[in-house]
Amino acid sequence: MQKKAITVSELYARFASGEDLSSLGPVFLEGWIRTNRDSGSIGFIALNDGTCFKNIQIVYNGNLPNHDVVSHLLTGASISISGTLVLTPEMKQPFEIHAEEVCVLGDVASDYPLQKKRHSFEYLREEAYLRPRTNTFSALYRVRSSLALGIHEFFQSRGFVYVHTPEITANDAEGAGQVFTIATTDKNGKLNDTDFFGRRASLTVSGQLHVEAFALAFRDVYTFGPTFRAEKSNTPRHASEFWMIEPELAFADLDDDMACMEECIKWCIRWVLEKCPDEMAFFDKMIAPGLLDKLNRVLATPFTKMEYTEGIEILKKAVADGHKFDDPDIFWGKDLGSEHERYLTEEVVKGPLFLINYPKEIKAFYMRENDDGKTVAACDCLVPGEGEIIGGSQREERYDILKAKMDKIGNTKGLEWYLNLRKYGGCIHSGFGIGFDRLLMYLTGVTNIRDTEPYPRTSSALKY
Ligand code: 4AD
Ligand code: MG
Repeated sequence: MQKKAITVSELYARFASGEDLSSLGPVFLEGWIRTNRDSGSIGFIALNDGTCFKNIQIVYNGNLPNHDVVSHLLTGASISISGTLVLTPEMKQPFEIHAEEVCVLGDVASDYPLQKKRHSFEYLREEAYLRPRTNTFSALYRVRSSLALGIHEFFQSRGFVYVHTPEITANDAEGAGQVFTIATTDKNGKLNDTDFFGRRASLTVSGQLHVEAFALAFRDVYTFGPTFRAEKSNTPRHASEFWMIEPELAFADLDDDMACMEECIKWCIRWVLEKCPDEMAFFDKMIAPGLLDKLNRVLATPFTKMEYTEGIEILKKAVADGHKFDDPDIFWGKDLGSEHERYLTEEVVKGPLFLINYPKEIKAFYMRENDDGKTVAACDCLVPGEGEIIGGSQREERYDILKAKMDKIGNTKGLEWYLNLRKYGGCIHSGFGIGFDRLLMYLTGVTNIRDTEPYPRTSSALKY
């Protein structure tokens, strides 16, 4: 067993609770150097031990037996420190450590890619394995971790049952043909067999179909896990692997569904503000000025609802009034691009927007057809800065209508079980999918999914 260090997060927590840390006695810490400056008689190390966003200041002087080594340590080196905690009420940080001993645990080579200065997001993407050691990414991935728990808390505290839907599946839930097919290889690594399961299998694009079956047993359920899409969309919002939260609510229509979405997004905002205040303050200051104001405004305002048809009229008018879209060809039946979604949520509504009742031709087969015969009870939740972060719908619960639709697109075979749910005690039910990595972009103001994902996967990019 290693000697146990006190963590920086514990020190800050005990200080915040009002404990008098001046009587703590000798302390022992371990961590990584963020910065080190030595003025000859006195030196300062900003140490981050990974347990919280904040650094702690280590003060050392010529009394250290290895002063010469310590004063030359570079950003990134790992060290341990034995010393005393000293309160510094007149300084920016409430306390610091006066070092009596500093041990070098892992020196850092001179080609270490992270320097004291600020690096660009693009540069750090190339060094994805080291970027968790930077302020931005340390904040981002701690918020990500906390938000995952927040999501579970939201659903579990409301009685939703968590279902582990499979990653390997035979269905292309969304019917968009963007699946990664599973194959085995022979011992030379040559592609061998795509028939391992006796039928074509792929990585899941959505757990929805499987989770629907559980909703018809448990009432309210959710799945939360990785999903995969072979889309070659080279945008800041698309990844080939992303995490999705997919709740499904029995005895619930589209309005119930949207109420749950709004409550969930607001819960997530409150969660990160409360659980990660240092990180959120950092994003507000360094990444997206105004972020905290924006999130607090969202908390205070009901989400707007708008018919797809009205959205099209507004977009047409915008084009007529001279607004420049890359794609200005707006017509009823169009699958809106991100620029159109963003116009509606940023320029028109200036906040989160539920766009509802889309033309059935541009939406997935499982969505419930409305009485007009033209639209389905679908909704996308659009947010400023990003566009779509949630897609949801009321599901088609009428056997005959769904079967006719599935027969038409030809996906009935293999999904008989899904259809059967409509004849074995079916009921009105609805659900949605939140892109977790996009939600994190929204909450932190980070503008590229390659940054909110620890190891992003996009086409032609698999370095780590
Ligand atoms: O709108 P989508 O395709 O809906 C579904 O998958 C439904 N089965 C959800 C449901 O009703 N249970 O995807 C849902 C969300 C999108 O709104 C978006 O946030 C995210 O998943 N998403 C992606 N995120 C990152 N990269 C991609 N390629 C994404 N595709 C969708
Ligand atoms: Mg969608």
